[in-house]
Amino acid sequence: MIVTTKKLFESAYGKYAIGAYNVNNLEQIIGLFRGNLESKAPFVIQISKGARSYTHETMLEGLITSADKIFPESVFAVHLDHGDEETCYKCINSGFYSSVMIDASHESFEKNVEITKRVVDAAHAKGLVVEAELGMLGGVEEHVKVDEANAKLTDPVQAEEFVRLTGVDSLACAIGTSHGAFKFSGSQGLHFEVLEQIQKLMPGFPLVMHGSSSVPQEEVARINAAGGDIKGAKGVNEDEFMKAATLGVTKVNIDTDGRLVWTRVHREFFRDKPSEFDLRPIGKVFMAEYAKFIAHKNEKLGSAGHLDEVRKLVS
Ligand code: G3H
Ligand code: 13P
Ligand code: ZN
Repeated sequence: MIVTTKKLFESAYGKYAIGAYNVNNLEQIIGLFRGNLESKAPFVIQISKGARSYTHETMLEGLITSADKIFPESVFAVHLDHGDEETCYKCINSGFYSSVMIDASHESFEKNVEITKRVVDAAHAKGLVVEAELGMLGGVEEHVKVDEANAKLTDPVQAEEFVRLTGVDSLACAIGTSHGAFKFSGSQGLHFEVLEQIQKLMPGFPLVMHGSSSVPQEEVARINAAGGDIKGAKGVNEDEFMKAATLGVTKVNIDTDGRLVWTRVHREFFRDKPSEFDLRPIGKVFMAEYAKFIAHKNEKLGSAGHLDEVRKLVS
């Protein structure tokens, strides 16, 4: 069942966070639904602009619609990740998405407000909800590239003003994370004080944490042992998700960790079976490993076990 992120956040706020997972293909989608059902968790399925064009947006829509039929007990939101204004309107008008993210965080505060407000008005008119971003994460997004030195933590007072002026439904805050596998070069960590201040100013308002992959060192080591060359990768401590959740983070975005699962599974499989050339045996291994990974994340996020209660709330 497709619901808005707003509905999911109502049940989660202050208690746990919903996992928001990026998908690009069939195997990821099947693994995602299985993992969420196995751990009995509601979830957000995220589609980036790059994912929409990797195969075709209609293909992804078809796969997700089919998964919804194959796994009818699932409760999830379909969300555009890091949208520009044009892609937001396409998704709003598609009739398929329940939520969009407008990312104008690279613009001035005034311009970010102006663009976000336009998207919020268009989305709300069609029953969709909107996530926006204030502050700047480091790392690489599709239309935004920011190096560590230029990343900017969210200003809590500005955040309150931004939400008031735009009417946005949730806010992605920069609290020290960045996208990709190389988040922290030293001993930096999450800036909980930013979340605390925002929660004081806007109690009950849902916050989103991007760049939340934990880049498990064991996963990186296995990839490198199987021929990979990923050095110095470091991510977010997943034991900190629950603290973030109590401070108002209701959605935690994870993409890179799923890519690492894909890389490890494929490198090890073909290293161990050099004569293999059928795509289905490896596809099966990946779907099973991806499902396991999702279930593990949901345990760390605290969303595991909440599916029945959320289904009652939304039906
Ligand atoms: O934040 C970006 C997400 O990880 C999506 O990545 O734009 O390469 O699909 P992508
Ligand atoms: P990671 O690169 O840490 O997985 O972050 C993904 C993300 O924020 C998607 O919007
Ligand atoms: Zn992101």
